[in-house]
Amino acid sequence: MDLHLDHITLVYPDGDTHLTAVDDVHLTIPAGTTTALLGPSGAGKSSLLAVAAGLTRPTRGTVTIGDDVVFTPGTSVARATRVRLERIGMVFQSPRLLGSLTALEQLELHAHLRGERPAAVRARSMDLLAAVGVADHAGKRPAQLSGGQRQRVAIARALVRRPEVLLVDEPTSALDHDRGTQVVELITGLARELGAATLLVSHDASTLGTVDAIERMLDARLAHPAPPARA
Ligand SMILES: Nc1ncnc2c1ncn2[C@@H]1O[C@H](COP(=O)(O)OP(=O)(O)OP(=O)(O)O)[C@@H](O)[C@H]1O
Ligand SMILES: [Mg+2]
Repeated sequence: MDLHLDHITLVYPDGDTHLTAVDDVHLTIPAGTTTALLGPSGAGKSSLLAVAAGLTRPTRGTVTIGDDVVFTPGTSVARATRVRLERIGMVFQSPRLLGSLTALEQLELHAHLRGERPAAVRARSMDLLAAVGVADHAGKRPAQLSGGQRQRVAIARALVRRPEVLLVDEPTSALDHDRGTQVVELITGLARELGAATLLVSHDASTLGTVDAIERMLDARLAHPAPPARA
């Protein structure tokens, strides 16, 4: 399914005033393709990702997956949580893995949250761990893995529920150039294979050779202007 961010604005309260973190961002990501979002610190990249994930309600605008309007300024937390669980995979900047679970169990738990039996997803989980290059570490806990390996487990975990939308925040920040390039290549390849519309935030343009499109964000806006909002 395509992901449409339709005239998204996000305003945070900031003391007595307001801070516009996302200002009228309009963007479509076709299914199976990866769009990279570049921009300096504070540009609003993570804020846009939070809206796309339904973690934060937009102040204005809507998020649509396929033909379904999933997040609006009025969407309830319960509905947003359900949509996120069923349709969206996320990879955070610092991989949030559970300390007591092995790599394989991290994936199985995520599938279980959607109602699948852990045993039923073991083969798919192992395939994904193999696809990200950590199959040999399936039985290890996060503390026994390197930062890059943890990041790979987090990517595999985001994909185990076959999300229609994949949102990735700075997957390469802890990695050197070559490994960063490999991780971006891995994400674009998996997105294509699984048909997921993917938005990938990055600081480092030099790792983005395999993405389908690059958008630049500055001071809460995309570099290219949004078309006029529908009346
Ligand atoms: N929960 C919040 N409440 C108020 N202001 C916030 C909140 N989160 C972020 N901001 C502000 O919104 C702006 C955009 O922040 P955001 O985290 O989206 O930037 P970013 O582009 O992801 O930056 P970085 O590259 O450093 O991660 C910043 O000015 C930030 O201080
Ligand atoms: Mg950020």
